[in-house]
Amino acid sequence: MGLFQCLVLFSLYSAAAASEDWCYPSQKCLNPGCKEPRRWVDLYPGCGGKKQSPINIVTNKVEIDWNLQPFEFVSYQDKQPTNWNITNTGHSVQVNLDSSAKITAGSLGGQYKAVQLHFHWGRGTNKSYDMEPGSEHTIDGERYAMELHIVHIKEEYPNITEAIPKNGVAVLGFFVEIGEENKNYIPLISKLKAVPSPGDEDQMTPLPLSSLIPPKEQLDKYYRYTGSLTTPGCNEDVIWTLFEEPIKLGLAQVQEFWMKLYFNQTASLPMEDNFRPAQPLGDRTVYKSDSIALVSPAKTLLLLPAATYLLLSCTQ
Ligand SMILES: *[C@@H]1O[C@H](CO)[C@@H](O)[C@H](O)[C@H]1NC(C)=O
Ligand SMILES: *[C@@H]1O[C@H](CO)[C@@H](O)[C@H](O)[C@H]1NC(C)=O
Ligand SMILES: *[C@@H]1O[C@H](CO)[C@@H](O)[C@H](O)[C@H]1NC(C)=O
Ligand SMILES: *[C@@H]1O[C@H](CO)[C@@H](O)[C@H](O)[C@H]1NC(C)=O
Ligand SMILES: [Zn+2]
Repeated sequence: MGLFQCLVLFSLYSAAAASEDWCYPSQKCLNPGCKEPRRWVDLYPGCGGKKQSPINIVTNKVEIDWNLQPFEFVSYQDKQPTNWNITNTGHSVQVNLDSSAKITAGSLGGQYKAVQLHFHWGRGTNKSYDMEPGSEHTIDGERYAMELHIVHIKEEYPNITEAIPKNGVAVLGFFVEIGEENKNYIPLISKLKAVPSPGDEDQMTPLPLSSLIPPKEQLDKYYRYTGSLTTPGCNEDVIWTLFEEPIKLGLAQVQEFWMKLYFNQTASLPMEDNFRPAQPLGDRTVYKSDSIALVSPAKTLLLLPAATYLLLSCTQ
């Protein structure tokens, strides 16, 4: 967004009360008084905690934990019986789920039910075939195109409000990588245009959650750490799981997110770059279920004699 356009938006903006809102930097030009991520703590002290999310995962510092067995996905294959509600929350697009899909195992210590899913994404560049990525978590500093969060709460709590103070939240995070068009996402992405503005809500035919994520066989490798919600109040003790295998979406599909959704449609401010920057890891450890760190030395051992042989034969 150019400076001129931003000034025009600013001069149109009148709701002074909104300056007490939290926002992403991409929203600030409309509402210069709003608090960007490093100032969220002014409004929500929880955002200044020591176990915040997202984080950058440094793969050569992760620890293998053999307790991190594959998840069991219950009813992930089923379509829930009632329609999905899809909502523009003003910070993302969210689908509220009816809690029928559940996860267990995965070292969670109990069953958790899926209550909502939403996305984080980046922005277009001035070249239509290019984009800036917008995942929240990064791997060795590298950001993926998008990130899907499926929010789960412990079975015994009725809703997320109740689950948060009791440390009953577990989020499954999936990276999105640009690839071929993903046909399973067509119904969801074609609904985005129905909820362009904050507060808009529409209904859609439910999809099996399994259709939105990689096949179960590819979900054995994941990272685990204890963090927080990535939006205010940034409540901590959220169990984070990030799967190594990304979802693949076509570039045109990813572009639909910032082309159809707005922070403010009247002011034509596209919803983009709705991710929080990486937070300090502090004294936390990131664990990995089935580490390539174990595979690599083994491979090296296998490769070493061959390499030595080549080296020797070359010097002769
Ligand atoms: C959206 O922008 C318009 C025009 O600047 C403004 O009048 C309106 O209050 C804004 N809406 C919100 C929800 O910020
Ligand atoms: C979706 O919205 C409708 C109407 O507001 C409501 O009756 C229904 O319970 C909602 N479904 C879910 C899963 O939140
Ligand atoms: C894209 O923007 C950059 C800087 O903002 C500019 O240098 C470049 O010429 C632009 N490219 C196109 C194709 O407009
Ligand atoms: C969450 O559940 C509690 C207890 O059943 C209820 O009092 C509260 O209104 C619910 N909150 C929401 C946001 O649904
Ligand atoms: Zn999220």
